[in-house]
Amino acid sequence: MVSVSRRHFLAAASAASFTSMTSLGRAAEANDEIRVVVIGVNSIGSTHLNGFPKIPGVKVVGACDADSAVLGKRAGEFDKKFGYKLKTYEDLRRVFDDADVDAVVVGMPNHWHGLATVWGCQAGKDVYTEKPCSHNIWEAGQMAKAADKYDRIVQVGIQRRSFTHLRDFFSEVQQGALGKVKNVKGLYLSRRESIGNPTSPPKPLATVNHNLWCGPGSTKLERAKYHYDWHWFWEYGNAELGNNGPHILDLCRWAIGAEEFPTAVSSVGGRYVWHDNGQTPNTHLLRYEYAKAPITFEIRDLPTATGKRDTCDYMGLSYGIVIEGTEGTYLGFDTGKVLDPDGKVVREITGNTGTDGGRQLHRENFVKAVRSRQTSDLNCPVATGHLSTALCHLGNISHRTGQAVSLASLPERIQDQPLMTDAATRMTDHLAANGVDVATAAVELGRTLMIDPKTETFPGDEAANRLLRREYRAPFVVPEQV
Ligand SMILES: NC(=O)c1ccc[n+]([C@@H]2O[C@H](COP(=O)([O-])OP(=O)(O)OC[C@H]3O[C@@H](n4cnc5c(N)ncnc54)[C@H](O)[C@@H]3O)[C@@H](O)[C@H]2O)c1
Repeated sequence: MVSVSRRHFLAAASAASFTSMTSLGRAAEANDEIRVVVIGVNSIGSTHLNGFPKIPGVKVVGACDADSAVLGKRAGEFDKKFGYKLKTYEDLRRVFDDADVDAVVVGMPNHWHGLATVWGCQAGKDVYTEKPCSHNIWEAGQMAKAADKYDRIVQVGIQRRSFTHLRDFFSEVQQGALGKVKNVKGLYLSRRESIGNPTSPPKPLATVNHNLWCGPGSTKLERAKYHYDWHWFWEYGNAELGNNGPHILDLCRWAIGAEEFPTAVSSVGGRYVWHDNGQTPNTHLLRYEYAKAPITFEIRDLPTATGKRDTCDYMGLSYGIVIEGTEGTYLGFDTGKVLDPDGKVVREITGNTGTDGGRQLHRENFVKAVRSRQTSDLNCPVATGHLSTALCHLGNISHRTGQAVSLASLPERIQDQPLMTDAATRMTDHLAANGVDVATAAVELGRTLMIDPKTETFPGDEAANRLLRREYRAPFVVPEQV
């Protein structure tokens, strides 16, 4: 198996010489109106409904959602704001059947990103799909193949890729602006709450087509709140790591120019305090081995201490990255600052972040590529989104193939990984502040998994390789042959 990243890069380079379009779709010529449908319009999809019409030459013509209440609400708001009625669809397959649609925006949950993108490409539509790029590593390869085969433009919604000030600064970092990079730390130190523990099985919302919503995933419902809380169930979501990780880990690997899989991943984590039925960790430490510099990532979803409503920070930063170099340190997220070895701020890194948290610049970039038909014009094609998303999947695979050990034994067990030891001390102190009895509590010690970046697999590790893909619930199956 050739790595997704390499194969897609080669295919994109050769596809760049094509100017003709597949016969399946309507070709959006340079001056043509581009007709867009947004699929999944509850939260992020609603920002796309509002953002795309602001781009000259783009017309949002429809909205699709498996929840008729959400669909009706968003269509009504759109009519009020833009003065015309959207075509509405319950079933996304009808959007792909519609010859009047040029491009789709996928604002559905993670378990739908891969299949909707493949179907979209097969139907001749260009696709802007939200992060994470995929729900598992294998399906990202199918997305890349479909984009190549049908000569489609596919952008992944990791919007900071459209910040030119970060691109320029990270290029300087790679040329030594901070001296030799010793390590990069990603931080997502947030605060969330228990999602509850329903004792009797919850019922789907009356307004939702539950079969369509679940798509490739199980129809068993285990959460009280239907929307958003799916993030914390493996059938649909990818944990906080796959929720905010794609943004943060993308910055980490972009900063050092890591354009392939790491050679190893390890993790430590657990779900503490809440006693709910969410499945994914709310406290997670990850480490990725790269020859250029190791990347670590700290995730916390608990406040600084019991009863508080604030978030933790590291060097004053709650969300973002810290690049530690021999001659300076960078701290930032959308923008940032450089500190000299004495901790004095010597430079501000700022630039145009556009509107809507950078998403409008990213939408504009997508539209530019839809017009030029050049994947190379995209700031976050599948190959890029896949590499950053894969870091999340790799960390989750380490976690899910690990074993519970006592938290008190952790320092000894990870003593050969200095950056993890520091982070684990911070993690343990944080758990203690949140009322966890750290003398008796357990922690999931993820396995350290060795990775072959050429094949994007775990050599000889059947248990880990099995988690590179999922079981799909028919008929919602990402095809072997796209
Ligand atoms: N780029 C960003 O900054 C950013 C920010 C937030 C969310 N996201 C991503 O966007 C996606 C959606 O997140 P959200 O917070 O809006 O989730 P949400 O649960 O609030 O909304 C998802 C919507 O998709 C609909 N949906 C589900 N299955 C469908 C189907 N088969 N057909 C049509 N509609 C369907 C749901 O009914 C719901 O209205 C996630 O993958 C998330 O990671 C990206």
